[in-house]
Amino acid sequence: MKRLISSISAIALLAWFAVPTAASAAQESIGNITNGRIIFQNGKGDDVPACQGCHGTDGNGSDDLGTPRLAYQVDSYVLKQLTDFATDKRTDDTMYQMNDIAKALSAQDRKDLAAYVHTLKSPYIGSNLDQLRRDGADIGIPHEGKMIAEYGSPDHGVPACKSCHGFHGRSAGRIYPAIGGQNYVYLKHELESWRNGANTSAADIAAGKKEDNARTNDYMGQMRAVAKHLTDEDIKNVAAFLTLARPTSPGNPRSPSHM
Ligand code: HEC
Ligand code: HEC
Repeated sequence: MKRLISSISAIALLAWFAVPTAASAAQESIGNITNGRIIFQNGKGDDVPACQGCHGTDGNGSDDLGTPRLAYQVDSYVLKQLTDFATDKRTDDTMYQMNDIAKALSAQDRKDLAAYVHTLKSPYIGSNLDQLRRDGADIGIPHEGKMIAEYGSPDHGVPACKSCHGFHGRSAGRIYPAIGGQNYVYLKHELESWRNGANTSAADIAAGKKEDNARTNDYMGQMRAVAKHLTDEDIKNVAAFLTLARPTSPGNPRSPSHM
């Protein structure tokens, strides 16, 4: 009986320690939404311009500028990208500004911004593919891209995007970003960058001899392994599908808990 009581109290003690640790880890990753909003709308000091100048007041980004939608993006993913820009693990080769901007932010500011953009529940607009086509952009075929997103291309070694990014690319939480509803120009550019990254040797990455348009900041090379096998057609097709993809559909009406 005495043994039973002491093992119960040992469990209770463990639980008592475990709870505050889990709670503080969660709070740490959330950040101060008000400070995030202030920087997003107004910038900070001389070196941080307002994020909304390039990413839009609603956080939906822009095909004209090649900027991504940040609204509602997974906060831990956004924080990782800001940290990767700040440490040059990822290079912004579109406007060459994100690295300088991220360096000028404090670690706490980056957390606060990640927390704020996650609260921007802007409607999924995606790209206007007809307009982009009229402007001369090379646009893929959405239903061909849907096959890749749902099933992959087993004939040339491409896994289904859905297996990591979730239904319609709405994210599977934590390390897997939402790619559905993302802008076409940005999606196409990132997929090409991952493929360039896949063709960069580990030795060159370690020596800092990476091209600016080669993205190599994925955990365990997960995205590079996928993009390595994508053809130009695959990239255009899957980007065309994903930009139009909505997080829920009449047959799949429920959002997952991370959304
Ligand atoms: C001068 C324009 C500009 C400003 C201002 C700007 N950004 Fe960006 N941002 C970009 C561009 C362009 C990219 C895409 C870079 C690339 O293709 O790698 C980007 C990418 C990002 C990404 C990566 C998103 C993803 O899906 O991986 C994050 C996060 C981000 N910006 C956050 C911010 C925040 C927070 C601010 C304000 C503190 C900000 N940006 C201000 C132009 C800008
Ligand atoms: C094995 C898991 C896995 C699979 C399968 C996968 N991805 Fe990814 N993807 C990731 C991870 C992890 C990241 C985030 C990398 C980082 O930390 O920057 C990512 C990031 C991306 C990004 C960058 C998002 C942004 O906002 O910058 C795009 C675009 C993307 N994936 C598209 C795809 C497409 C299209 C497919 C299917 C052809 C696919 N992914 C399949 C794991 C995967």
